[in-house]
Amino acid sequence: MSTLELFPLGTVRGDDGALVIDGASVTDLVKQFGTPLYVYSENTLRASCRAYTQPISELYPDSTVMFAAKSYLDPTIASIVGEEGLGVETVSGSEMQTVHRAGISPELITLHGNNKLIDEIDQAVDLGIGHLVADGIDDLQLIAERAQRSNTIANVLLRLTPGISAHTHEYIRTGEIDSKFGIPIANGQAADAVRLALSLPGVKLVGYHAHIGSQIFDVNPFKGNIKALIDFTIQMEADTGYFPEAISPGGGAGVRYEEQDSGLSPESLVKEIAQSLIDYLPDTRRPHLILEPGRSIIARSGVAVYTVGTIKRIPEVRTYVAVDGGMADNIRPALYGANYTVVLANRNSTGPTETVSVAGRYCESGDILFNNVTLPELNRGDLLASATSGAYGMSMASNYNMALRPAVVMIDKGRARLTRRRETIQDIWNVFPNQY
Ligand code: LLP
Repeated sequence: MSTLELFPLGTVRGDDGALVIDGASVTDLVKQFGTPLYVYSENTLRASCRAYTQPISELYPDSTVMFAAKSYLDPTIASIVGEEGLGVETVSGSEMQTVHRAGISPELITLHGNNKLIDEIDQAVDLGIGHLVADGIDDLQLIAERAQRSNTIANVLLRLTPGISAHTHEYIRTGEIDSKFGIPIANGQAADAVRLALSLPGVKLVGYHAHIGSQIFDVNPFKGNIKALIDFTIQMEADTGYFPEAISPGGGAGVRYEEQDSGLSPESLVKEIAQSLIDYLPDTRRPHLILEPGRSIIARSGVAVYTVGTIKRIPEVRTYVAVDGGMADNIRPALYGANYTVVLANRNSTGPTETVSVAGRYCESGDILFNNVTLPELNRGDLLASATSGAYGMSMASNYNMALRPAVVMIDKGRARLTRRRETIQDIWNVFPNQY
């Protein structure tokens, strides 16, 4: 397999050796939009949506795929996933309002959050979104209270912690009992929450949700999660007579960042989840299935492009190649030790290669974007492009060092449209009341 297969579908080298993403030359894009630049491929994004919607429509038709907006959201992305028939899972009032304005219908919006603000709950209730996911007893009570105040009934999923340990980075594991998310099943708190939800006038308990983590390659934790949700369903039906209308095992499918990664295809994940539901449920009543993929929808469609600046050679030690971005536009390497595949993007080279560390430009020694990567000999002005960069890069970007967050473009058959402009210093200054 070639490295280019980790990039958006159909990425090739042009005649001049430059990377061409969905018909658009990276060199031309950089001339127009500058760097750091996030480039998304519409074609790849749509294909990733369909990798979920097509198999699920056959294997478990009574289902909804909700795109996890936290992985990256802008109005263009929201419209595209909406056109593909997906709903959107949000975790803040801002995400919720953004997808609503982009035209996603309220029934297809979910609001999560372990500490939803009163204002966010009110917005969700006013918009009449599909589900609020109650993350704890307090949260459930608050949702009920606010809905009652508006003389309405909120549709609620209860977020449960099933006690599943997934082999992923500690910071992105969420299914274990000791977690700030969800209500533990094992100690009886989840059962209490169900009884409470059934008794509260402001809420309708629609079903159960459990998200076990992110960047998971193994299907077994997903199957274990479905098993835990169904066991709980059966136990609660025996106790209370309540049977859920919907079950949501969250998102979490891992994607390939490097050639050696195995990945987990949406098709096989959907197959396993659908089959587990069918196997574990003792009779033919089938709850609606809600999936919430983020990374596996958006990661491959996005590429981050940087310009090489200073090159510092420390003989016998290391060569640092510094680029014009870094942890302010992709914090994942610094935060999780995440690896990416990076290539020289403005030209092809068959010349000598060198193992270097590609450093960011922000004031922290840990701001290394790509550690120990083998690249052709580089010069100032060369462009580097990292694959699989569409998820949790731009969405976790910050203004550290008063960095100006990058521009984002969407490519459709060679045509680029700016979907998020580069920030200017005025964007930074706008938050200082009556100054600058
Ligand atoms: N549903 C819930 C309730 C979630 O908390 C998440 C992710 C998802 C769905 C989507 O998971 P995905 O399919 O994207 O794995 N910043 C980290 C990832 C954090 C994931 C948080 N929750 C990273 O960069 O790896």
